[in-house]
Amino acid sequence: MNTKNNDLLVQKAVFPVAGLGTRFLPATKASPKEMLAVVDKPLIQYAVEEAYAAGIREMIFVTGRNKRAIEDHFDTAYELEAELASSGKDELTALVHSIKPDDMDCVYVRQPRALGLGHAVLCAERLVRGEPFAVLLADDLMIGEPPIMQQMTELFAEHQCSILAVQEVPRNQTHRYGIVKGQPQGPDLVGISGLVEKPQPNVAPSNLAVAGRYVLTPAIFDLIRQQPRGAGGEIQLTDGIAALLNAEQVLAYRYHGTRYDCGSKLGLMQASVVLGETHPELGSDFSAWLQGRRAALELSA
Ligand code: G1P
Repeated sequence: MNTKNNDLLVQKAVFPVAGLGTRFLPATKASPKEMLAVVDKPLIQYAVEEAYAAGIREMIFVTGRNKRAIEDHFDTAYELEAELASSGKDELTALVHSIKPDDMDCVYVRQPRALGLGHAVLCAERLVRGEPFAVLLADDLMIGEPPIMQQMTELFAEHQCSILAVQEVPRNQTHRYGIVKGQPQGPDLVGISGLVEKPQPNVAPSNLAVAGRYVLTPAIFDLIRQQPRGAGGEIQLTDGIAALLNAEQVLAYRYHGTRYDCGSKLGLMQASVVLGETHPELGSDFSAWLQGRRAALELSA
């Protein structure tokens, strides 16, 4: 980043993690969906690592009932670390310790009722304290180099306005996303002129869909507060951002990387296969097994 002025930096990230995860029942009956693992790491840790890689050091979790495991995951585990250290397992000790680097702070606020993503973000208002901030939805697992949030905070330093990560989706899927309308501003940026939550394909303004990564200016909070319940009867972040368009520029950014929709079983399986194949410890064994399996299936077809 080419600036040292703190006003220009994104230093806080909000992780809305209060959702019930009903799509993964029974796995999520007693444990948070954000703790579902892709290979050996929970979804929420991928998102936190992405924010950390972007230089963000204050992680704000908007939690709910049954989310204790997330707090424990980012807490120091003295007994575990001492046990591993005393049996000489130095690599594992370092691995466990690295989940929460010493220069990273984690704070928690409760979302008392499941009133939607906009409401969840609003619950973080006092902790954000009037600064620009990132929002990361952990069930969108985003893989990119540099990491997607870093791409976005660098853009924020340059443009000083809210930025939404977007990707093109098939027309028949617009009802699953926030969909943007706008004009290209260079190869990767779109100046947004409209934004609508989960429109049916026949009324969607485009097929450019919002992925679960946002950099937002603090003006969003008042605007979310003013929103009536929107799609699905929930207070929508998308509606707050649509209102923000009247006051500030908002950019859509075609991120460089891949998104896995780990809010769905299919997406979680796909992410597991792709990250399994590139995993330093088991990648080559897993790839060899997959190839053998494909060959066996082709033979039997
Ligand atoms: C949320 C947002 C939606 C966005 C999506 C990305 O929807 O409301 O605008 O496109 O995340 O994953 P959800 O998936 O929580 O229903």
